[in-house]
Amino acid sequence: MTKPVNGFSKLSKQQKIEWLAENYLSKTPEAVAILQNYWNTDESLQKLHDEFIENTISNYYLPFGIAPNFKINDRLYAIPMAIEESSVVAAASKAAKFWGERGGFKAEVINMTKIGQVHFMFKGRKEHLHQFFEENRQKMIDAVAPITRNMEKRGGGILDLELIDKTSDLDNYYQLFVKFDTRDSMGANFINSCLEKFAEVLRKQARETDYFSEEEKQLEIVMSILSNYVPECIVRAEVSCPVDQLSDNPEIQGEDFAEKFIQAIKIAEIEPYRAVTHNKGIMNGIDAVVLATGNDFRAVEAGIHAYASRNGKYTSLTHAKVEEGIFHFWMEIPLALGTVGGLTSLHPLVKLALNILQDPSAEELMKITAVAGLAQNFAAVKSLTTTGIQQGHMKMHLMNILNQQQATEDEKQQLITYFTKNTITHSGVIEQLERIRS
Ligand code: MEV
Repeated sequence: MTKPVNGFSKLSKQQKIEWLAENYLSKTPEAVAILQNYWNTDESLQKLHDEFIENTISNYYLPFGIAPNFKINDRLYAIPMAIEESSVVAAASKAAKFWGERGGFKAEVINMTKIGQVHFMFKGRKEHLHQFFEENRQKMIDAVAPITRNMEKRGGGILDLELIDKTSDLDNYYQLFVKFDTRDSMGANFINSCLEKFAEVLRKQARETDYFSEEEKQLEIVMSILSNYVPECIVRAEVSCPVDQLSDNPEIQGEDFAEKFIQAIKIAEIEPYRAVTHNKGIMNGIDAVVLATGNDFRAVEAGIHAYASRNGKYTSLTHAKVEEGIFHFWMEIPLALGTVGGLTSLHPLVKLALNILQDPSAEELMKITAVAGLAQNFAAVKSLTTTGIQQGHMKMHLMNILNQQQATEDEKQQLITYFTKNTITHSGVIEQLERIRS
């Protein structure tokens, strides 16, 4: 049986790989070669990637694609997307073209406030705590001045600092609830540093406050951390066009398209099983841009799904209606993104992705990302309510199946031609490949 390893992080990369090969990959003789195949030949670039995390042994590639022709607020963007799912970039590009011919996307940032909390326990008289908070509020703000100075120069900083009583939910539980403006940075480090400073002052001042009893002086900090739930950092993306211009298929009337499309959205609004898949399609677009631009997709995912259930039931993030002959399709989502700090200045491809987007501010990136999500949802629901999803999906997946079967270039060409007129299924592709090979 494999034994626990001590000091793994101290081993060299080569030693880590040898240990792994010996203990877990004895049945995979090609393992070391596979790992090394993904190393970058530029040693300094490889070192940069090695140092992003602990125990790096190789790189994990995702395709980095471009969805061009996104007209957003009358400006054209080519959107970089990092994603493995075959049909996502194709679907985004199609939706961009479709809406580009119908006036394009509109997007606006509604607000950009981020939240952080110091969670603490206080056993004692509430009036004492409130008095203590008011007396020490300025002291806490002053204590973070060295951290906030630069952010303030950029127009951001602390917007609000409140004491929240949560004792009706949990005995003795209170929070400092802090609102931040972090400008073009996502702000996680800035927020957490401020919170830890607030916590330090809170704890220290409690120990020194005369009117606190001994028990009150033992105010206990539980943790200080930003919240990835950002319902006051909202971006809206929308499209609209006259209903009679809505269909690009001569066999489908715009009215019929709109009716079925809106039905599909209404189902996602009331039915959580559908809403989750519906929103997953939105996240196909959002995550791909978030990843390509070096942002934290886990934070974005967590925040958006929490927002989707803010009224107590998980529901669709997008909405649609027809009003006075105009079809409207829109979405409002929370998105805390950064275009400075973090990976944005370190990862060469991330920098390039931001260059492709013409070096956007965080606000602009919020709009672009939300539009990518809306476009993705439009493409998915359009396919689902017309041709079915498999047609487009399998078209893009055909190459994956052919690669899995190690098809030659000639076999690929023959089968691509064959499947332009035939329905693609996994077994159908294998059958045709065998036919050619025999
Ligand atoms: C697949 O990645 C995404 C879809 O399932 C989204 C949807 O059903 O709306 C096609």
